Formats: sequence, structure tokens, C-alpha cells
Amino acid sequence: MQLVHSPAELLSVLRKDQTGTPESLGLVPTMGALHAGHTELIRRARAENTRVVLSLFVNPLQFGPHEDFAAYPRDLAGDARIAEDAGVDILFAPPVSQMYSSGFASRVSVEGVSEGFDGASRPGHFTGVATVVLKLLNLVQPTRAYFGEKDWQQLAVVRRMVRDLNVPVQIVGVPTVRSALPNETGLALSSRNTYLSAEQRSRAAVLSRALRAAQALYAAGERRSQALLSAASAELAGESGLTLDYLALVDGDMNEREWVDNEGVSAESLAEYRLLVAARLFGVRLIDNMPLISA
Ligand code: PAJ
Repeated sequence: MQLVHSPAELLSVLRKDQTGTPESLGLVPTMGALHAGHTELIRRARAENTRVVLSLFVNPLQFGPHEDFAAYPRDLAGDARIAEDAGVDILFAPPVSQMYSSGFASRVSVEGVSEGFDGASRPGHFTGVATVVLKLLNLVQPTRAYFGEKDWQQLAVVRRMVRDLNVPVQIVGVPTVRSALPNETGLALSSRNTYLSAEQRSRAAVLSRALRAAQALYAAGERRSQALLSAASAELAGESGLTLDYLALVDGDMNEREWVDNEGVSAESLAEYRLLVAARLFGVRLIDNMPLISA
């Protein structure tokens, strides 16, 4: 594996290797603190491309002034070992100064899909994400780029941007990897889980139980969103350490639905319906989502 720290070096490495003409290039953008969710993205990229680039960049542009940019877990040596073991060919880990030189003045803003949910709770967040993702896509020029369903709205924002701006890349969404540990079963893996103690993590699994409760009610025939979301709320209400940010049912365009209409909606569209939740638990903001129709 090659470790690269500057955009100029990255371009030269990518160009040099092209004499061996790579058939396809997979990009996995991350902010590091790699866990099994990230390695699942790498595994997919590895299986589907001849070469894999992992970017590791804690992007200041997507953090609000009171968010955890400074505290975000950073461990380049540990992440490099995980990346190498997972089969990454090039690890691109630039310092902030290499990505945002002085005078940097451009932003990519994706309207509509960026606006509700995390976009409402974290002003500017998705503009920061879209800007850095477009920079990474321009730098690496991958055939495919891999994003986790864990960040459902982020995936929607990236897909919208790529379509709108004609970025020649295939965006691949990868299902959420969850903890299989007996005391925290179902908890979506996240770099921010490292802020929680083992006991807090086991309590945070309530988010996934709440979404499953709504799925189960849907499977039992309930079609009113409010009733489905109430089932999830009832589960969340049992956790005293939790402050809810949002809980919603959205369709494939991220529009909230009040009613799941089996008659007027195709099976493909229904498969896109998603239950979303965001909450603060023990001072840490966590998000999760699941399809309305469980596999
Ligand atoms: P980060 O939080 O490091 O996540 C990197 C990628 O891993 C994202 O696509 C995210 O959705 C995916 N991921 C995280 N946890 C996952 C899990 N449990 N299962 C499956 N995939 C998971 O998301 C970002 O970084 C940044 O916003 C980034 C896209 C890199 C732009 O800065």
C-alpha cells in the first residue's frame, strides 16, 4: 500500500500506475477511526475494482463551530494498518492545508435533499460534505465511489450532486454494518461510538430497536406513519439518557410521508421508504436508519 499526503503526489501516483492501465478504480472516502463499517466499504470496492483508493481526511468544512472537529478520533498509524490489511492500494491522507489552501472560496451546495433532518440540525454540514466529496472525486477520478447507507441523507446528497453536475462516477451505497456484540446488538457502527462507554453503547442500541419496532408494526399491517413512528417513540422513551432530534418516515426523495399508500406506490418506490432517527445520547449525537420494509 502507498501512503500519499498531497494532491500533487496523488495525481502523480495515479498517473504513473496508469501505464499498467487500471481497468477500474474504487474510492472509499472516510474521516478515519476505521471500523468494520468502513472495512465493509473497502471490501466491496476491492471486489469490484482493480485498484482501491481510501481517503482519510477529517474535513473541517462539514463541522459546525460547536461540533467535535478538534476531538474527532485520529489515529493514522492504526488506520493505515487496517487499510493495508483490507487491501487498500493507495491511502490518501492529506493535511487540511493541502485540501484548503488560503483563499479557498468555493462551495458545492445541494438544495432540497440537504435541507431537512441533519441539514436542519447541522447548518452547512452537507455543503461541507458535498464540497469535499466533489474535490475527492475530481482528484481521484474513480470509476466507483462507495458510501454507507448509515448516513442515508449524505448518500442522497452525494447521488443528487453527481447527477446534477454530471460527475462521471458510479455511486455505490453499502448497507449499514451493525454491532453483533451481545450487549449492544444492532447498534450501527460509528466512529462516534468511541465517545461512549461500553454501558452507554449498549443503551444506544435502543435506536435500532426503535426502528425495528416500526418495521414490525408495518409488517403487521399498520400504514399510518404516525402510528409507526409512535411505536418507535415508545421504545425510545424507555431510555432516560436520550434526547430525540428527529424521527421520520421518508420516501426515496427524502420527503416525509404521513401514510404508506400501497395502492398508489410501486414496490420499487416502497422499497426506498426509510425510517430515520437522530438523537443525542450521553452528549453524543447518533443517527440511524432502516428500510421500512425489512429484508
Ligand atoms: P465517515 O463518517 O468516516 O464515514 C465514511 C463512510 O463510511 C461513509 O460513507 C459512511 O456512511 C460509511 N459508514 C460509516 N459507518 C458505517 C456503518 N456502520 N456501516 C456502513 N457504512 C458506514 O461520512 C463521512 O466519513 C464523511 O462525511 C465523508 C463522506 C468522508 C466526507 O467527509
